[in-house]
Amino acid sequence: MSLTTKVFSRGLSTSAVRMAAIKNVTVIGGGLMGAGIAQVAAQTGHSVTIVDQTKDILQQSRASIEKSISRVSKKKFKDDANAGMDFVKKTIGRIKMNTNAEESVKEADLVIEAIIENLDVKRELFGRLDKAAKSSTIFASNTSSLPITDIAAAVERRDRFGGLHFFNPVPVMKLVEVIRTEETSDDTYNSLMAFSEALGKTPVTCKDTPGFIVNRLLVPYLVESVRLIERGDASPRDVDIAMKLGAGYPMGPFELLDYVGLDTTKFIMDGWHEKFPDNPLFNTSEKLTKLVEEGKLGVKSGEGFYSYKK
Ligand code: 3HC
Repeated sequence: MSLTTKVFSRGLSTSAVRMAAIKNVTVIGGGLMGAGIAQVAAQTGHSVTIVDQTKDILQQSRASIEKSISRVSKKKFKDDANAGMDFVKKTIGRIKMNTNAEESVKEADLVIEAIIENLDVKRELFGRLDKAAKSSTIFASNTSSLPITDIAAAVERRDRFGGLHFFNPVPVMKLVEVIRTEETSDDTYNSLMAFSEALGKTPVTCKDTPGFIVNRLLVPYLVESVRLIERGDASPRDVDIAMKLGAGYPMGPFELLDYVGLDTTKFIMDGWHEKFPDNPLFNTSEKLTKLVEEGKLGVKSGEGFYSYKK
């Protein structure tokens, strides 16, 4: 289906049809999310540049993409090893690496930021990129908990700014949340929706509200699971079994907490609690705080609610 047909099939305005398809994508941040976003964009034919602070980090991003792309290729081309190798080669060939953010956005149609969850750092970055990028370039943030409006306040192009929120593992999870602020233009919104579809994802739309859709429901659920074991009602393992077999979730809450990172979940909850202290859904848990203080962050540190030490 062409971009135009897709746009019409969603019943969007004719002005949307004039928008140019996104071809060149710059992803700022080569961590797990940034590398995943870059990989999926390259897999679907986009030219991608990943930016991070050092060559070493970029080398790690490349290694993580190579590992993931070979899993995707094995699944996609299980009966045709040559086609699989070609797919891997072409995908990797579409990805460039750069440590200079300003230089990397010059040709970009879309810049996706996936760096540390710190408002000041994001704003400083976008302020710089605003001066370096073409006026037509769309900016998007993959923030999971900060208001897009507050990040976009750092740039002139607020009509060309939105949220594109991906889920971990990006090559597997089919959803993208497309966030529009009061100032996001129809053209920008339509481009972000069309781009998400071009990645083979299913986009949903959400206003710029805390946690958007998924995290607004998921994070309180995860922390309530911790409170449940704090009360001594059940063990983490039994809670995980219950939610997998009784609710059909692919992972139980403690497996997911370990997978996402206990620090990430705590960070999101603390930020909301600070902003909305009267909402009991945003209260954190002592156990979560204690584990984070002990450096038990989940899979990435070797221990969280479960141990991953070999
Ligand atoms: N890259 C490519 N492929 C991958 C992959 C990766 N990083 N991780 C898993 N896969 C593929 C595997 O190759 C496998 O393919 P196959 O079906 O051909 O065998 C398939 O996905 C399933 O993987 P596994 O067999 O290794 O393991 P599972 O069946 O347990 O699935 C999972 C793993 C996809 C992670 C699944 O457990 C799951 O969906 N978990 C829930 C994840 C979730 O909720 N994510 C959202 C987190 S919240 C978030 O991201 C928001 C943020 O803002 C905090």
